[in-house]
Amino acid sequence: MKLLVTGGAGFIGSAFLRMAIAETDWRVVNLDKLTYAGNLENLAEIERHERYRLVEGDIGDEALVESLLSGEKPDALVHFAAESHVDRSILSPEPVVRTNVNGTFTLLEAARRNRLARFVHVSTDEVYGSLEAPREADESFPLNPSSPYSASKAASDLLARSYFLTWGLPVVITRASNNYGPCQFPEKLIPLMIANALEDRPLPVYGDGMQVRDWLYVEDHCRGILEVLRKGREGEIYNIGGNRSLPNLEVVRQVLALAGKPESLIRYVTDRPGHDRRYALSSEKLMRETGWRPVMDFETGLARTIAWYRANSAWVARVRSGEYRAYYEKNYDPARWCAERRP
Ligand code: NAD
Ligand code: TYD
Repeated sequence: MKLLVTGGAGFIGSAFLRMAIAETDWRVVNLDKLTYAGNLENLAEIERHERYRLVEGDIGDEALVESLLSGEKPDALVHFAAESHVDRSILSPEPVVRTNVNGTFTLLEAARRNRLARFVHVSTDEVYGSLEAPREADESFPLNPSSPYSASKAASDLLARSYFLTWGLPVVITRASNNYGPCQFPEKLIPLMIANALEDRPLPVYGDGMQVRDWLYVEDHCRGILEVLRKGREGEIYNIGGNRSLPNLEVVRQVLALAGKPESLIRYVTDRPGHDRRYALSSEKLMRETGWRPVMDFETGLARTIAWYRANSAWVARVRSGEYRAYYEKNYDPARWCAERRP
């Protein structure tokens, strides 16, 4: 079996590649543009492996994508590559639409031309939008995205499905909840809070901090994708959740407790525009059809993640230099910080 993976130098893609090389005998080609979020350090343990190959390039580069599909003739493609952050999609939506929508379109067209046998499109629970408690989205739930990021993911998710419905391209779609774990770029909630806490810097909580997310350990997500790749039915959608819903403030408090830092580091900042209040999903279908379950409990996963960031301060320092600093100053402009807790 030969697999083409896109975005394999990112947080989830690299965890998936490490797992695929360690646990299968597949050959894997990784197409990655190495944006700010692509980090070859995440792939150090497999970079010299004889079954692994990196191709640096853009999923929107039609000639490159065509030559990879026609030349490498992969049996399957797992599509992770994306601009993956909501806050960046608000500051600058253009690359988000270009990669997530147009880039996915380029991959789908090449897959159709080359009669690819399996196309796993990695989507997100954010396509369902914000849900009132106690509702949970199953795969038939309507899509109602709020941010340029989630709208671009909904667009590519629907486009992928249309290639199955129109041309029979064997597409399978996964929609996962918020991931956490080692090697996550410190722009997302958990790694940002850990990195700041370990350096005794303020922890910026948006709005009242009572927004709810479902937390999924990255390896549980990757195992779910492997199951979908092997057993998922063509044209189907599979939610992948961690079965652990928590308000952000609770997550931040747990980070501080596990890192041994005081809650006085918490700072409230003005809310993110269009901020979804609550995500919730049911993974019943994936569990029923494949036997998959999330095995990592949140406290253990969070402690493990903090231990990784503690042990890898040089990794954090490297990714926080350069581009990250400009992003941080823009997104966490001092005008956003609130003296008082906002209702
Ligand atoms: P990430 O930002 O850590 O990594 C994205 C990777 O894609 C990077 O290696 C980057 O270099 C690469 N990339 C970006 N644009 C590219 C392009 N035009 N061509 C080729 N490569 C490109 O993202 P992540 O958190 O690992 O997310 C991976 C996928 O999972 C995304 O599709 C995301 O929408 C989805 N997802 C993420 C989460 C989460 O919590 N992080 C949850 C559900 C779904
Ligand atoms: P994030 O990790 O960006 O994921 P998403 O928005 O895709 O769910 O954010 C998770 C939650 O944490 C979300 O409700 C926004 C909130 N958040 C903060 O309160 N402060 C921060 O600095 C960040 C990055 C996120």
